[in-house]
Amino acid sequence: MSPEADAVLARLLPYPEDGTRADGPVAVDATDRLLLDEAAPLIERDPDGVVVIGDRFGALTLGALALGANSVRVHQDAITAEAALDANAKRASQTLWAGRARATANAPVPDELVPDEPVPHEPVPLGMTVHDKFEPRLLAGARLVLLQLPASLAELTELAERVARHADPGVTLLAGGRVKHMTHAMNDVLGASFTQVSASLARQKSRLLIAREPRSDVGPLTYPVTARLTDREVLDAINAPEAAPDAGLTVVAHGAAFAGAALDLGTRFLLAQAHRWPDLSDAPGTLPASPHSPNYLDGRPVAVDLGCGTGILATVLALRYPGAHVLATDRSAAACTSAAATLAANGVRAAVVRGDAGDSLPLPDGSADLVLLNPPFHDRAALSTDAAHRMFATAGRILHDGGELWTVFNTGLHYRRALERAVGPTEHIAQNPKFTVTRSLRKVLTDGSV
Ligand SMILES: C[S@@+](CC[C@H](N)C(=O)[O-])C[C@H]1O[C@@H](n2cnc3c(N)ncnc32)[C@H](O)[C@@H]1O
Repeated sequence: MSPEADAVLARLLPYPEDGTRADGPVAVDATDRLLLDEAAPLIERDPDGVVVIGDRFGALTLGALALGANSVRVHQDAITAEAALDANAKRASQTLWAGRARATANAPVPDELVPDEPVPHEPVPLGMTVHDKFEPRLLAGARLVLLQLPASLAELTELAERVARHADPGVTLLAGGRVKHMTHAMNDVLGASFTQVSASLARQKSRLLIAREPRSDVGPLTYPVTARLTDREVLDAINAPEAAPDAGLTVVAHGAAFAGAALDLGTRFLLAQAHRWPDLSDAPGTLPASPHSPNYLDGRPVAVDLGCGTGILATVLALRYPGAHVLATDRSAAACTSAAATLAANGVRAAVVRGDAGDSLPLPDGSADLVLLNPPFHDRAALSTDAAHRMFATAGRILHDGGELWTVFNTGLHYRRALERAVGPTEHIAQNPKFTVTRSLRKVLTDGSV
């Protein structure tokens, strides 16, 4: 690795952490370094058309810029990873500019482009363009694609197919991962879209798959996939007429969306309790305005699908309560695109917003009547309940006094105390060997605390 790139990587932190937690994530892992080492000669030969997908904390994007890429287009599925890249770009900008000035000593970088200190709140003009959607523009004409291998073959399939279609025919795709997470099926997935696929030697327990020569004889894109759910729990939750032959809910899923186009078992268990959810089913405009709701909500009830995935719960809410405002939110771009498509496929509307634990929901505090939540307990490969706790806090904030949070979770997680602290009195509604469904009633005490 060049000294410039090493200096940039040394500045990065595993945002939002500071890197000091012994079992916490590292900002730059062995896979990032292997990818950048393999990419260095390719970037030197051809510094344009570099695309990064799935950067965890910004090491690939900022590393590629430090290696001399003129510009880098980047897409990260999770908005939390985008925030990490943004924070690290600010941290590393001074080092990056200083390195560029040294590298182009014969053509000095103008002084105004070499800030003394990183500017904390200004966009950093480093030559990177963030695409919040996984769209053809991201990949058009790409000559080098750097990729941290995703956890699922479905996500890899969608990535590979789209790179093969939209990138330059001379593109090189470098996909890196931890050896223990890599399978031969990944080679097969890449092989379905590229004529040449090879593997690098392993280094520090990481390895690369290298794909070249996009196939021209490929069929239609596999993703998004569509399925029709006709499970009893779904039909009951949407009040589908008993014997209607076409009753059901259409689900649309992109490769990176949770559970694909299927119904998760936890979600099914939550739907089985729909008959006990609060009744928000009055016709539009006939409900009295809640004293807690702002005028723009027109007195209509508000229901939220927090961590919406493909939007099955949001669609159920919209079908079950036609008079309600429904909002769906997820940190994943693929989830939000899927949820919007699922809602449209069922002929209903809801606001879909990408955000971290519901932080960008356009809702004032104390304005929601009902929140449904099937929280995540994995962050990529790692077991993590951090996001779940932040989602409980969001539910506590947006629900009005008397509003309800319905949560389904793996019984072993014992969330009840945390739900009581974040929202209010919580009762176990249903339990099976695997899942628990709780109802938390938002209760505001006179001093404003829960
Ligand atoms: C268990 S899945 C549930 C999906 C969907 N509600 C369902 O029932 O099928 C959890 C969802 O939370 C999302 N998620 C994970 N961390 C998140 C975060 N920090 N902020 C928002 N959403 C998050 C995941 O992308 C995933 O779609």
